[in-house]
Amino acid sequence: MHTRDLSDHVEYVPGRGSEEVARELGIDPDELIELSSNENPHGPAPSAVAAIRDAADSVNGYPKSSHADLTERIAAFWDVTPQQVWLSPGADGAIDYLSRALLEPGDRILAPEPGFAYYPMSARYHHGDAASYALSKADDFVQTPETILEAYDGERIVYLTSPHNPSGTVVELDAVAKIADAVDEQTLVVVDEAYGEFATVPSAVELLDEHDNVAILRTFSKAYGLAGLRVGYAVVPEPWADAYGRVNTPFAAGELSCRAALAALGDREFVDSTVDSAREMRTYIREELSAPTWESEGNFVLAGVGDAAAVSEAAQREGVIVRDCSSFGLADCVRISCGTRPETERAVEQLNDVIATQGR
Ligand SMILES: Cc1ncc(COP(=O)(O)O)c(C=O)c1O
Repeated sequence: MHTRDLSDHVEYVPGRGSEEVARELGIDPDELIELSSNENPHGPAPSAVAAIRDAADSVNGYPKSSHADLTERIAAFWDVTPQQVWLSPGADGAIDYLSRALLEPGDRILAPEPGFAYYPMSARYHHGDAASYALSKADDFVQTPETILEAYDGERIVYLTSPHNPSGTVVELDAVAKIADAVDEQTLVVVDEAYGEFATVPSAVELLDEHDNVAILRTFSKAYGLAGLRVGYAVVPEPWADAYGRVNTPFAAGELSCRAALAALGDREFVDSTVDSAREMRTYIREELSAPTWESEGNFVLAGVGDAAAVSEAAQREGVIVRDCSSFGLADCVRISCGTRPETERAVEQLNDVIATQGR
């Protein structure tokens, strides 16, 4: 008895967590600053915490009404129909639902390289395959229609990440529209806006009015501070919205996740202050870090530090966890998430010490 052939599949490499690193170093996790997974450094939205407490007594039931309520609230937020909102366990889950809904065995997706690892992983799990378009460091990871369309060869799904992980660049709306117009009728252009709240470009959701081959991905993991609850969604084109019922795992998001997301969605104050703080901290990192960085529209900054593995290991020994971008194919870069101001200041100081020592 064995699994199917998984030799083409790779494991997802997450940013390292403070609990894991603290155990390894034999220290208290509170001594560490974790800036490796682009999480919200201000915690969850307080209204979401209250909603979780209130709902704790009702988790013996399936999330029937909360799932429907959240779907409706998200639909109202974006001015789309509830059928267009595909609630999922994180944006990752929505990527799976799109794979299930669109890919026949052997169909391919096109994704950025470097880029978020889960697009090709999900395609492969669903018996599809993946091709990539290169975003080049020399061109500051700029995402133009030409870059993407030159590599495009009739793939069933084209993933655009805006802001892009790990570089922070965005795809302008006219570029998304140009790509959607240029690809085959049967190609879905998915704009992954997991970091959309932090960007100054508008959401591509408005393109759904005129394009029936554009979808967007959003998550409650970042700006809303609910990564631990695994709740996200896709907004999909209206004509095939009823496919959700045929591809989703029943009750895609749990009761506490739905209740917390409902509360957080209404908590604009928390989201706005999170976004302001991330924008300030990404400017701070770019100004104060003694390494080249790239302009970022996300809650993180990519920095060219030389030997990324050595720098991130040395920083970790000093209590600062950043993301070594070797797994993205960028062995000379680290990605630094925006922390609170004290966290970010301390992280930059430690990183500058490490970079200076490594350079000697
Ligand atoms: C670009 C991008 N898309 C999607 C996700 C998945 O987010 P979620 O936590 O909602 O699954 C991430 C997570 O880091 C990401 O960086």
